[in-house]
Amino acid sequence: MKLEIDVITIFPEFFEKPIQFGPIKRARDAGVLEIKLLNLREFAPTPKEVDDYPFGGGSGMILKPEPIKKAIDSVKKEGGTVVLLSPQGVTFNQKLARRLAEESQIILICGRYKGVDERIMKYVDMELSIGDYVLSGGESAALVVIDAVSRLLPGALGSEDSAETDSFEWGILDAPYYTRPRVFDGMEVPEVLLSGDHARIERWRRKEALRRTLKKRPDLLDKALLDKKDLELLEEIKKEEGL
Ligand code: ADE
Repeated sequence: MKLEIDVITIFPEFFEKPIQFGPIKRARDAGVLEIKLLNLREFAPTPKEVDDYPFGGGSGMILKPEPIKKAIDSVKKEGGTVVLLSPQGVTFNQKLARRLAEESQIILICGRYKGVDERIMKYVDMELSIGDYVLSGGESAALVVIDAVSRLLPGALGSEDSAETDSFEWGILDAPYYTRPRVFDGMEVPEVLLSGDHARIERWRRKEALRRTLKKRPDLLDKALLDKKDLELLEEIKKEEGL
């Protein structure tokens, strides 16, 4: 299975460098990911005609609907999913990344300026926001989506790495990690990590992942996939932390 990601943008160059690194590059090299950059201006009668003033007045320019529709039609295959990046969309998260990684084609439309003509929504399957803040365009948001989705494709991560232990894969944050040196600025690496006792290490990591989540993102615990052992660990943590 291969995922094709088509990006419709007035700044295709924005993506050229970032897609040449890390898991995105590895997924492309492995043949499980193809990224096509479509220059929206090439779908307009003249390059300048991609946007226009809003009817009714107001500041800013609006992306015109015809070039976007033409760009979609030029690449869309049966079953392809059209995604518009905009601050009005549902908030992107790991679950949505996993869902998109199952698709065969995603067409990402990068909004610009003040927005896009509302009539384009007829052709949009999903409107995604990467958070409650306004970016100057959908390009950086599209890059976030491309990154999060690509690394879930088979072969994108090196064998030493795995998406399974990532923060959010189980709905909780990941454990803290340490590397050499064993003592840094007077701070020691937790003894358990040097013990070679894998069962103890695994239990410690799960417990510290839960501790971090409880301290930094308690909201995640309500929806997390927790088993009986996790609930016992959480009780231990609450006692230790005096909660
Ligand atoms: N375009 C502008 N702001 C955005 C956001 N927060 N997410 C996705 N696309 C956007």
